[in-house]
Amino acid sequence: MSDEKKYVLVTGATGQLGSDIVDELNRRGIPNIGVGSADLDITDNEAVSKFFDSHKFSYVIHCAAYTKVDLAEDEKDLNYEINVKGTSNLVSECQKYNIPLVFFSTDYVFGGNGDKPFKEDDETNPLCEYAKAKYLAELEVKKLDKYFIIRISWVFGKIGNNFIKTMIKLSETKTELNIVSDQIGSPTYTFDMAKAIVDMINTDKYGIYHLTNEGFVSWADFAREIFKKINKSIKVNDVTTEEYNARAKRPKNSRLDKTKYLNAGFKKMPTWQDALDRYLKEINVI
Ligand SMILES: NC(=O)c1ccc[n+]([C@@H]2O[C@H](COP(=O)([O-])OP(=O)(O)OC[C@H]3O[C@@H](n4cnc5c(N)ncnc54)[C@H](OP(=O)(O)O)[C@@H]3O)[C@@H](O)[C@H]2O)c1
Repeated sequence: MSDEKKYVLVTGATGQLGSDIVDELNRRGIPNIGVGSADLDITDNEAVSKFFDSHKFSYVIHCAAYTKVDLAEDEKDLNYEINVKGTSNLVSECQKYNIPLVFFSTDYVFGGNGDKPFKEDDETNPLCEYAKAKYLAELEVKKLDKYFIIRISWVFGKIGNNFIKTMIKLSETKTELNIVSDQIGSPTYTFDMAKAIVDMINTDKYGIYHLTNEGFVSWADFAREIFKKINKSIKVNDVTTEEYNARAKRPKNSRLDKTKYLNAGFKKMPTWQDALDRYLKEINVI
């Protein structure tokens, strides 16, 4: 499908990833509408249906989600409503208009055993409510003929909150921090992800893919690299997942295998270190 013929709906456009996807579509001159929850509540079936009827979209990039991983343990219904029902509402419209949808899922659909990077068809075992809902949403998306399910991890972008911004804020008042060192994964810069996604929607290589910036790191080492780059001497103490005791269970092994994406001929993303450097410049920290 050529760019000229596209008219893309981007949900979650007020969030980290959605805002960068809208920017990338605009840079490439691809017509789009980006919406936040105030513009279109994806849990409102009727509103979603009316929205699709009044716009003749040819593509949906669905970035909207309930992303509060710990709070989801308590807000189970809201988590389910937004992540599963909201996705299902969009899927119904994509079926009605026979258009493709891109959905973003998560490394958290895996249980995190071992240290081998997970492949797309490895067994899933979501450990927390957020991950369970994202997995159920994947099943909704798979009802479509044309979809991309992109499993991503440890996202950072210019809008909203993320681990890097939290570390920068903490570095203003703390000299020592306890950070989890036995969860290993790949930080993912939304600017790089947006480019990759807009490349992907110009193909018909539909399916499920793992995609992140290159390289693996623990949260503790990620924090050390952030402090090094922003020139702050904060002592980082390694703590285990059990010691940290977060509300929601997270996988220790969050490594995602990107071989399928690369074998499909898509472009490798830059390393997470390179991405971090560019991100800190983008948010004017270095
Ligand atoms: N963040 C991560 O580390 C991470 C990791 C793996 C996968 N993912 C996935 O990647 C995607 C993008 O995540 P992100 O970090 O960019 O998310 P984010 O910054 O938390 O943004 C969430 C977006 O969802 C929208 N939204 C929430 N409830 C909605 C509703 N009822 N109707 C319509 N829109 C609604 C929000 O709109 P308003 O702000 O206008 O309410 C916001 O634009 C999500 O699918 C997420 O599950 C994220």
